[in-house]
Amino acid sequence: MTPSLDRVVVSAASGPYPVVIGSGAIEMLGAEMSAAKLGSRRVLISSHRVWELHGQRFRKAGADRTPILIEDGERYKNLNTVARVLDALVKVNADRSTVVIAIGGGVIGDVVGFAGATYLRGVPVVHVPTTLLAQVDSAIGGKTGVNHPLGKNLIGAFHAPSLVAADPAVLETLPRREFRAGLYEVIKYGVISEPALLDRMRDTLPAIFARDGNAVAPLVSASCRIKAAVVSADERESGLRRILNFGHTVGHALEAVTKYKRFRHGEAIGYGMLAALAIGVARGVTPKSLGEEVDALITQLGPLPSVADISSKEVLAAIKRDKKVVNGTLHFIAASDRGKTIELTDVTEKEIKTALKKLGLSA
Ligand SMILES: NC(=O)c1ccc[n+]([C@@H]2O[C@H](COP(=O)([O-])OP(=O)(O)OC[C@H]3O[C@@H](n4cnc5c(N)ncnc54)[C@H](O)[C@@H]3O)[C@@H](O)[C@H]2O)c1
Ligand SMILES: [Zn+2]
Repeated sequence: MTPSLDRVVVSAASGPYPVVIGSGAIEMLGAEMSAAKLGSRRVLISSHRVWELHGQRFRKAGADRTPILIEDGERYKNLNTVARVLDALVKVNADRSTVVIAIGGGVIGDVVGFAGATYLRGVPVVHVPTTLLAQVDSAIGGKTGVNHPLGKNLIGAFHAPSLVAADPAVLETLPRREFRAGLYEVIKYGVISEPALLDRMRDTLPAIFARDGNAVAPLVSASCRIKAAVVSADERESGLRRILNFGHTVGHALEAVTKYKRFRHGEAIGYGMLAALAIGVARGVTPKSLGEEVDALITQLGPLPSVADISSKEVLAAIKRDKKVVNGTLHFIAASDRGKTIELTDVTEKEIKTALKKLGLSA
């Protein structure tokens, strides 16, 4: 039986590309690539772990060789891994029409996307995201890149994919913590754009935790739709795309001061959203009831790593170093209602400090 897939189209400067979502999307990959008129020469790139778990599902993807397997995990998101991918592409004589298919989490997507952006100045890339975070966020939007020893994502390029296939069935094997981390980004979409997502999560949480496809697939679909709409309107983050940074000002700073070791990205965003809501409520721009609603949902997802030993001062310093400070003023996304945001440009250090204290950070 042909599975029924949801599809959205993202418009990018380089042209529109489809995102197909649903259980069975992987088996449909070959057909989808043909429909998108992508070349018949295909190279699969994945990680050892992901390929071991799900590789057999790609038999029909029409690849002509065994996959190129690399390491994943944040510490491999660097130029060495990119070089390994480029070496492998040279070795198999990949040409300009060869389609590179990235199968894995956000790290694989960012590394392979960057290699795809630079090999022969750019070859078509197909993303098959296999973590919840990658499905709802990183596979869509064309940001690619790797870390430098001195900072995260310092090296990169915009390279929009030619096709994204998100199959929620692969999420069944995801470690519990990785899965939960992705759910915080889904909450983000609920807050900034679609409050019904918050209701759905609250109402179906046991089924979501049980990875019931009927409960998880709609979250992936809705999130992809929102991310696709936002990046279609603003690919280069000059305006609307900034709403995706809700919770990320404090979240990124928490990740940086703990050297990217303590939190999964989504967990830091969980705290970041709580901080953004606290600041909004204190200012009177965010309804108190919304703050309480999201706080309760985040609590229901389970305990977040402790922040008691993290110094607010260091977090503030990290915020100031972040890209979101434009000409000395902090651009901060706050929630103005369920599904609505407002950009604040005059948030003071004192307001942030008060919010961090509320989260339980030390002085
Ligand atoms: N490009 C963007 O727009 C964008 C947006 C958000 C995040 N990111 C990047 O994404 C990265 C994080 O991605 P991530 O959270 O997916 O982490 P990840 O890629 O490190 O994957 C997490 C772990 O899950 C494993 N895994 C992947 N799929 C699996 C599956 N189906 N079953 C079992 N295990 C599986 C991986 O082997 C890995 O150990 C960060 O580097 C971040 O900077 C990029
Ligand atoms: Zn994020």
